[in-house]
Amino acid sequence: NWNRPKEEVNALMKLLRNYMKTCLKTAAKNDMKVRVIGDITKLDVDAIVNAANQSLLGGGGVDGCIHRAAGPKLLEECRTLGGCETGNAKITKGYDLPCRYVIHTVGPIWQGGDHDEKQKLVSCYQKSLELAAEHHCRTVAFPLISAGVYGYPKEAAMHIAAETICDYLKGCDMQVFLVLYDKKLVLPKDLKVFEFVGYSC
Ligand code: APR
Repeated sequence: NWNRPKEEVNALMKLLRNYMKTCLKTAAKNDMKVRVIGDITKLDVDAIVNAANQSLLGGGGVDGCIHRAAGPKLLEECRTLGGCETGNAKITKGYDLPCRYVIHTVGPIWQGGDHDEKQKLVSCYQKSLELAAEHHCRTVAFPLISAGVYGYPKEAAMHIAAETICDYLKGCDMQVFLVLYDKKLVLPKDLKVFEFVGYSC
């Protein structure tokens, strides 16, 4: 919960900043970048990733934003997919969104951390990136999977996202955007580390 004392949040962001710098350095060496910008539905990338539920029939949060922006044809295609289990991912077209594809992945619901939540969350990023590569996507944008309604602690979710994405990028040529929709996650002094663009939904 983000009502933590400021010094604790600053310490966490310092940890993440150093971590992201390492990732950026590694990624930059291989000519790939992990950057942070806001509001995924506005991004003109090859694929955006949706934090969906197992039905794939829409919901609130980023799922709701994506379905609203994509239009009814997205739900029509999702109905043909037969759902998706936690940790897996399925792909559809982007319809009225600026992106070509939407990759729907189902993150774990946080239950305290001893129900394989971390492994399932890592799998969401890996399966989504594998699907993006199979569809020859060069640019992909992720929200912070499970860090909203599903209650995954945000700083742990950020670490897992950054670590899994950076590990995957070592082996392929893709540009990945990590979207921190919630401005509270990015303190003013971190703006120089993250390319953070205003957001709305
Ligand atoms: N752009 C980018 N990120 C967004 C946007 C947006 N337009 N809207 C919300 N987010 C962020 C949230 O701030 C959070 O950090 O996406 C992250 C994931 O939050 P949720 O959308 O709540 O997803 P999740 O926690 O994985 O829960 C999934 O919520 O919406 C329902 O149908 C969905 O049942 C599923 C559950």
